[in-house]
Amino acid sequence: MIVLALLVWFQIAYWTSTNDYDRQTAAPNHPMKAIVYSDYGLSNLKLENIEKPVPNDDQILVKVRAASINPYDWHFVEGTPYIMRMMGVGLRKPKDIQLGVDFAGTVEAVGKNVTQFKPGDEVFGGRGGAFAEYVCRRADGAVALKPANLTFEQAASVNIAGITALQALRDKGNVQPGQKVLINGASGGVGTFAVQIAKSFGAAVTGVCSTRNVDLVRSLGADHVIDYTKEDFAKGTERYDVILDNVPNHSLSECRRILTPNGKYVMIGGGGPNDSRWVGPFGRVIKTMVLSPFTSQKMGMMMADANGKDLTILADMMQSGKLKPVIDRTYKLNEVQAAIAYVEEGHARGKVVITVE
Ligand SMILES: NC(=O)c1ccc[n+]([C@@H]2O[C@H](COP(=O)([O-])OP(=O)(O)OC[C@H]3O[C@@H](n4cnc5c(N)ncnc54)[C@H](OP(=O)(O)O)[C@@H]3O)[C@@H](O)[C@H]2O)c1
Repeated sequence: MIVLALLVWFQIAYWTSTNDYDRQTAAPNHPMKAIVYSDYGLSNLKLENIEKPVPNDDQILVKVRAASINPYDWHFVEGTPYIMRMMGVGLRKPKDIQLGVDFAGTVEAVGKNVTQFKPGDEVFGGRGGAFAEYVCRRADGAVALKPANLTFEQAASVNIAGITALQALRDKGNVQPGQKVLINGASGGVGTFAVQIAKSFGAAVTGVCSTRNVDLVRSLGADHVIDYTKEDFAKGTERYDVILDNVPNHSLSECRRILTPNGKYVMIGGGGPNDSRWVGPFGRVIKTMVLSPFTSQKMGMMMADANGKDLTILADMMQSGKLKPVIDRTYKLNEVQAAIAYVEEGHARGKVVITVE
C-alpha cells in the first residue's frame, strides 16, 4: 500500500510539475533580456524579454556587464542528477526559468536600507538568474566591490569557482605553509583559482591536468605538474597533506593511499553529465561520510557557501596581484547555449565568460 501510495503521489507530482514561463515571457511592462528555459535540455534555452526586477529595501539592482558559466549551470539545464529534481528543482520542468549565478556589473539602484553600496559602484558576486541584463541581490549577500584592476569579465568569473577553491583549502583543508597539496583538475574553473590560492598559503602545490594545460598550471605557480595522460598521480610515491579533488576519477582507497596519515581529502567535483545520472556525486559523498570516522585521515565533500566576506578576501588577493582569474573563452548573452555546451564537455581551461551588452 505504501509503495502504491508513493507511486501515485510521484505520478501526480510529476505531471503537475510546472513553471510560469508563459506568464513571465508574455509582454513585460519593463522588459529586460534574459536566458530562460521552460523545459530541461540545452536546446530549450532562449533569449527572451522578461520583467526587469525591482530591488526591495535590502537589495541592490545591478546592471550585469558579464556573467560566467559553471558546471552548476548544466546541472540545472539538464536537471541531473535526477535526485536534484526531487529536491525542489522541479520534477518534470524546472521551477525557476532563469539560469546563471556568477555576475559582475554596475549598481543601478539601491533599496532604502542599503548602506554598503551606492549607484555607480562596480560589483561582482552571485545570484540566481545572472544570465540577464539585470539582477537584484541582497546587499549583505554574495556581492562585493570589484577591484579596479579587474575587467568585468574577470570579476564575473570569480564567485563560485573562487569561493569554492578558497573555502576548500582554508576551511576544509586547513592548508598550512609548507604542506603538500595535490589539486586534481588543476586547469579548470576551480583548479586555476585553487593552485594560486594554495601557493599564496605557502603550500607546495602539485597540479594534475592534461598535456596541453601543463604550462598553464605551472605558470599559475604549481611546483609540480602531473600530466594525467602520461602518469597516474595515485600510483606515485609522494604523500600529500591535502588532496583537493575536482575530478573524482579515483577510488577513495586510491586517494587515501597517497594521503599522509592525518591528511585531508576534500571532494569538490561531482563528475560529468554522463556519470551516475540518478544520484550524481551523492553515492561517493555517503562513502566518504561512512569511511571518515574509521580513519585518521579526514575525508569529506565540501559545498561552497558564497558570501560577501569571502568575495572581499578574494577581491583583496586580486587587487594585490596574488590571484588572477584565467579566462578561456568569451561568449555573448545570446550564445549561452554554446557556452554551457562547451563547459559540459569538461575540458574548459579556467573560466568561460558571457559578456552582456
Ligand atoms: N562542491 C562545490 O561547492 C562545487 C563548486 C564548484 C564546482 N564544483 C564541481 O567541481 C568540479 C570542477 O568544477 P570546475 O568549475 O573546475 O569545472 P571545469 O571548469 O569544467 O573543469 C574542467 C577541467 O577539468 C579537467 N579534467 C577533466 N578530466 C580530468 C582528469 N581526468 N584529470 C584531471 N583533470 C581533468 C580539465 O582539464 P583537461 O582539459 O586538461 O582534461 C578541465 O580543465 C565540477 O564537477 C563541479 O560541478 C563543486
